[in-house]
Amino acid sequence: MKALVLAGGAGTRLRPITHTSAKQLVPVANTPILFYGLGQLRDAGITDVGIIVGDTAAEIESAVGDGSALGITATYIQQEQPLGLAHAVLTAADFLGDDDFAMFLGDNLIEGGIGHLVEAFNRDRPSAQLLLKQVPDPQRFGVAVLGDDGRIERLVEKPKDPPSDLALVGVYLFTPAILDAARRIEPSWRGELEITDAIQRLLDDGATVRASTVDGWWLDTGKKDELLEANRIVLGGLTGRVDGEVDDASEVIGAVVVEPGARLLGSRVRGPAVIGADTVLEDAYVGPFTSIGAGCHLTRTEIEYSVVMAGCEVADIPRIEGSLLGREVTIRPTDRRPAAYKFLLGDHSQVEI
Ligand code: G1P
Repeated sequence: MKALVLAGGAGTRLRPITHTSAKQLVPVANTPILFYGLGQLRDAGITDVGIIVGDTAAEIESAVGDGSALGITATYIQQEQPLGLAHAVLTAADFLGDDDFAMFLGDNLIEGGIGHLVEAFNRDRPSAQLLLKQVPDPQRFGVAVLGDDGRIERLVEKPKDPPSDLALVGVYLFTPAILDAARRIEPSWRGELEITDAIQRLLDDGATVRASTVDGWWLDTGKKDELLEANRIVLGGLTGRVDGEVDDASEVIGAVVVEPGARLLGSRVRGPAVIGADTVLEDAYVGPFTSIGAGCHLTRTEIEYSVVMAGCEVADIPRIEGSLLGREVTIRPTDRRPAAYKFLLGDHSQVEI
C-alpha cells in the first residue's frame, strides 16, 4: 500500500501565519503537524509516500527532505492549482499506479494512528474505507450516512442540512477504483473536484464503502483556537526532559521539555510545556500548554496556553494567553514618545488588548 499526503492548499483560516508558510508545517508541541501524520503512516507500515505540494512546495520539501528522518520515502507531486482532493488524486495517478493507497490530509491530527483502519481495509477489502468522527458542527465537513454493519450509504460535502453528525476525518483508504470515479465527477459549487463526490460515485456504481470511527480526538487544525487546542492535547501526553540549562534561580515544574542549548535564567516553567533549542527565558514565566519554538528570547514576560514559533522576541509583557505568534515576531515596550501602542502587523493579523 502507498500513501498520498496532501500538503498543498492555501490555509486561509490560519492567516496571517499561512501568508508566509505552509499550514501543514505550523508546529504543535514544536513538531510540524505534517510530521505526526507521516509518523502514523510509517507506524501502520506504509512508507512509500507521495506528497502533493502546491505554492509552498519548497518549504515542505525542505522540512521533509527525502523522508528518511521520518522513516518514509517521500516522492513530491506538484499540483498546479488547489482544485480539490479528487483533483489531487488524479494528479498523483502515475505515482499511485495500480496500488491501494491511504490518503491523509496533511493538516489533520488524529489520536491513535491509522493501524486499525488499515487492518479493517485489508480484512474486508471494500473499495474504500473512511475514517469518521462525531462532530457538533457537521456542516463544516463531508458528512456520511452510515447503514448497518459499518457500510456507508451516502455522503455529502458541507451540507447545509446535515443528514448525520458523522464527519469525514481527512483519512481515506482506497483501491485504484477511486481514480476512475474521480474522472467521472464535476467540480462542486466551490469549484473543486471533491473526494466526497468521487466516493459517492463509487457508491452509485454499487461499490462497498466502509467506515471506521475515531475513538480519540481529531483536530482539524484550521484555526487558531483549534491549533491551541491541538497543542494542549499533544502536550498533555508529554514526558519531561531537560537537555538545556536551568540556572539555580529557575524552576521547572511538571512535564517540561527543555531542548539543547535552551537556557532558563531566573525563570519558571510550569508544564506541560516545550522550550525550543537555543531559546532563552530571562525572568520569565511559561505556563501550562505552551510551546516556545527554537531561538526565541522571552524577558520579564508571562505566557500561558500559547504557541510561539521560532525566533520570536518578547520583553516586558506582563501576561500573554491564548496566543499564536508566527516566526520572528517582536513584542516589546519602547521609551520613545509618544508612549502609545505601535504595530507593524501583516494582513489578517489580530490583536486583542
Ligand atoms: C476536506 C474534505 C471534507 C473533510 C475535511 C476534513 O474539507 O472535503 O470532506 O471532512 O477535509 O478536514 P476542506 O478542508 O477541503 O474544507
